[in-house]
Amino acid sequence: MPLVPMTAFLEDVKKHKYAVGQFNLNNLEFTQAITEAAKEEKSPVIFGVSEGALKYMGLDYTVAIAKAAAERAGVPVALHLDHGSSFDVVMKCIRAGFSSVMFDGSHYPLEENIRLTKKVVEAAHAVGVSVEGELGTIGGVEDDLSVDEEDAALANPAEAIRFWEETQVDYLAIAVGTAHGMYKGEPKIRFDIIEEVASNIGAPIVLHGGSGVPDESIRKAIAAGVGKINVNTENQVACTETIRKILAAKPNEIDPRKYLGPAREAIKEVVIGKMRLFGSSNRA
Ligand code: 13P
Repeated sequence: MPLVPMTAFLEDVKKHKYAVGQFNLNNLEFTQAITEAAKEEKSPVIFGVSEGALKYMGLDYTVAIAKAAAERAGVPVALHLDHGSSFDVVMKCIRAGFSSVMFDGSHYPLEENIRLTKKVVEAAHAVGVSVEGELGTIGGVEDDLSVDEEDAALANPAEAIRFWEETQVDYLAIAVGTAHGMYKGEPKIRFDIIEEVASNIGAPIVLHGGSGVPDESIRKAIAAGVGKINVNTENQVACTETIRKILAAKPNEIDPRKYLGPAREAIKEVVIGKMRLFGSSNRA
């Protein structure tokens, strides 16, 4: 199947109240693991690619691998830029074959975020590419970007509703208390903010920082209006812990396939668990 924009999931997500997982690509093995999980679970899926991952994998390799994976998957797959920081990087990704983009203007003042996001929406929609916008500041560490807990600012519901009305983004990420990376304690998620915004806009809410969020909170977030959940760190942990264990037991192992293969299996298991939890299994 060719890559699809995230709008392909919209109607079903709303009707059946579930969330599609965005799992970030870090290399070929991540892509294969996520694809196999989606295929086995008959689940739609979103490949998230951060600017850091793009730098690491290369834009051309990323698109080629994602297209090959989508062909194999036999389920709808979106290739989505995660936290795009400028109009330029968004355009580069669209030209290279991305089917979806996030423009993250959350660090700009509201008016500027609206103005820049509108520009991205206009260009992306003209070529059938879906757009995710962001409001509020999500804490934690992603790539080389680190936001202190104190600087993380929850989204203001009235501003979020206005942001959606003016930009018409297809999916809206709002800061509601989750953070990128693993949590020290339990995240305090503001389900009331999710509910207030979701019930007043025509787009699903995106929950960033899905790793380490308790299952019950995920279910509550979906019930409140979350339709897309991003997960990266838990897959990275599963991958790296598997490799550490293998190399600790066999310090002389030099064949990368002997530790990357099991790491790929471990990632796949995490992704399968998330798809079941998010309710996206058997919805492709
Ligand atoms: P985690 O790494 O915390 O799962 O967050 C992923 C994410 O939100 C990507 O945008």
